[in-house]
Amino acid sequence: MKVTVVGAGAVGASCAEYIAIKNFASEVVLLDIKEGFAEGKAMDLMQTASLNGFDTKITGVTNDYTKTANSDICVITSGIPRKPGMTREELIGINAGIVKTVSASLIENSPNTIIIVVSNPMDTMTYLVHKTTGLPKHRIIGMGGALDSARFKYRLAEALKAPISDVDGMVIGGHSDVGMVPLTRLATRNSVPVSKFLSDDRLNQVKEDTKVGGATLTKLLGTSAWYAPGAAVSGLVQAIACDQKKMFPCSALLQGEYGLNDLCIGAPVILGRKGIEKVVEIELTDAEKEHLHTSAEGVMKTNGLLEL
Ligand SMILES: NC(=O)c1ccc[n+]([C@@H]2O[C@H](COP(=O)([O-])OP(=O)(O)OC[C@H]3O[C@@H](n4cnc5c(N)ncnc54)[C@H](O)[C@@H]3O)[C@@H](O)[C@H]2O)c1
Repeated sequence: MKVTVVGAGAVGASCAEYIAIKNFASEVVLLDIKEGFAEGKAMDLMQTASLNGFDTKITGVTNDYTKTANSDICVITSGIPRKPGMTREELIGINAGIVKTVSASLIENSPNTIIIVVSNPMDTMTYLVHKTTGLPKHRIIGMGGALDSARFKYRLAEALKAPISDVDGMVIGGHSDVGMVPLTRLATRNSVPVSKFLSDDRLNQVKEDTKVGGATLTKLLGTSAWYAPGAAVSGLVQAIACDQKKMFPCSALLQGEYGLNDLCIGAPVILGRKGIEKVVEIELTDAEKEHLHTSAEGVMKTNGLLEL
């Protein structure tokens, strides 16, 4: 199992670290455009191998795609992150060019790969990869919902004063502050709906805190977060590599599911060795459907900025 991670910055390096620590991949190639940067990150990470007990080989390369050849899974984290006060959508100008050239170079060297898109605005970048590479739709996956759901569970556990392992919940919709649809109605504490424990007001607060989860961290850190994003990507990579058939909300190309067409947006999917093995359609209330469709309108508006 060979995994390439493009972008050895905060998210790319964190993602490589979590993949290595979980010890399921034989090789992780970190690639960055900045001279020597990926080599340095890879060496530093390899020096944690004996301490953290993993055998995954991490190598770093400066923009040499021949070293990524025959990767089973490629993760794209290259691009600029947002600064405090910025929206993810404002990154489109620079990141679209980067994601387009990076995905073409990856496929040239690994024609059978599965691509996971992380760079923001992620739903639009995932759509761009669909439009420009011609890969089958099950082999292009956007990571956003796995992270947003982890943040949702963190906020739910905080409100419930419960351990996070007691809590389950999912966020679908666009990976943006206004686009996220945290499904509070379906969230549970050990299969008991969370509404049994929390007032509507408190649940609403959880929902709003989840939606601005990324912005809250960007304000604190001065740049966007990396631990949870890296861990979320590693979860998707592991589900694919180990053919786990796990369900995650991911940005997938929808063609009629949820009444939506020709866009990538967060929906529950089953991930296995083939990539997206199924888009799961769950029954939504009218209000949830309306929120998802408004979110889709936002994603489509951003897609409209792409020069395709
Ligand atoms: N989808 C999500 O949930 C999620 C979460 C966090 C961050 N992000 C996004 O991930 C991206 C990376 O964030 P970060 O915090 O790691 O940023 P970062 O600046 O730390 O790292 C980005 C790296 O990409 C490299 N890069 C730029 N152009 C490149 C190219 N053409 N080829 C190869 N490498 C190139 C840079 O040299 C840099 O090292 C941002 O767009 C950010 O918004 C997405």
